[in-house]
Amino acid sequence: MSRSGREILLGVGGGIAAYKSADLVRRLQDSGYLVTVVPTPASLNFVGSATWEALTGRPVQTQVWENVHAVPHISLAENADYIVIAPATADLIARLAQGRADDLLTNIVLASAVPKLIVPAMHPEMWHDRATADNVEVLRNRGFVVMEPDVGRLTGSDVGAGRFPDSGSIISELSAIVGRTSDLLGVKILITAGGTREAIDPVRFIGNRSSGKQGYAIAQAALARGATVRLVSANCDLPIPQGAQVTPVETADQMQDALEEFFEDSDVLVMCAAVADAKPRNLSEMKIKKKDLHSIELVANPDLLATISHNRKAGQIIVGFAAETSNLELHAQNKLDEKGLDMIFVNDVSGGAIFGSDQTHGRFLFKDAPGIEIAPTSKDTLAHELLNQVRNRLS
Ligand code: C5P
Repeated sequence: MSRSGREILLGVGGGIAAYKSADLVRRLQDSGYLVTVVPTPASLNFVGSATWEALTGRPVQTQVWENVHAVPHISLAENADYIVIAPATADLIARLAQGRADDLLTNIVLASAVPKLIVPAMHPEMWHDRATADNVEVLRNRGFVVMEPDVGRLTGSDVGAGRFPDSGSIISELSAIVGRTSDLLGVKILITAGGTREAIDPVRFIGNRSSGKQGYAIAQAALARGATVRLVSANCDLPIPQGAQVTPVETADQMQDALEEFFEDSDVLVMCAAVADAKPRNLSEMKIKKKDLHSIELVANPDLLATISHNRKAGQIIVGFAAETSNLELHAQNKLDEKGLDMIFVNDVSGGAIFGSDQTHGRFLFKDAPGIEIAPTSKDTLAHELLNQVRNRLS
């Protein structure tokens, strides 16, 4: 940690986008940050040390073998408040994911616990390659913020995902990190969002009005507070919160599979999705003709929450939601008890209210404390209040 709290260590990887980081240095300085550049040896083929020294007014080192008496990887790590790596090449991302320490930059990353922002830039084929995707996932799981590259023109005539984002986007991503309270750093949160659909035939389904907005708001808020977020998303048409690992599902059965896969390794489950209570007994392969569409025989779906809460480990926190149209508190209290929850948020959806809206209101009930009334507020604010309650209960 530095005295100013605004020391950025900017790692520059060996990609053509390195020249764009010269502008990034300037914009960071304009935003009040103090910048030290640590280029990888390969990046010096694109931009030499002289450029970085001139722009920052600071000496530049690339290897641990220079200035050894000053133990540079430790002193530079100790002086940084944030590490930004821009551009990050596929090779650099792979080395970071493996925890290698084969140049000064990777030594510093290993020696530092400060927040780290990775800005990838590479050809689309390399970005989409399984190896890179896996390495990015490893880094995100370790708490690195890995930006999505821009989509557009690359070197030569290539077009696709892999462009280095503009300096403004990188700085706003960094500002989000700087502004974060990080009180959920390292906490693994599994969130379900949206509404399941149960097919009747290839055209029709049984569904519900849940938009997924509340679940996505919780995912966004949890990410901003440093949590690792797995979002099981049922039929939502919303932008994916950056940094979330998303598992799309359609039906209750698919959601159950996802819960079985991810719950064991989660500290918190927030079951925000509206799960269809029943599904057609038979799925018709062919579209059912109007004249034959008189009744649909249904079978109950399993109660996912009740099932999973019986398999919980000590310390896992489970949050449910309830959408009711009458006797809110009574129904919610029964669900809290029957489903074995730590807390539940119940809202009054009479007349279709709240579904699809950015606003919500309702009441939290807890296993271990008196309830709290939530006056009309945004779903973002509710998300943070819910996470405050979760944080207070994490052991
Ligand atoms: O019983 P009800 O659907 O009102 O309970 C709501 C809560 O239970 C929500 O958290 C919802 O995600 C969950 N649920 C479930 N499986 C079902 C029905 C609801 O997990 N089959």
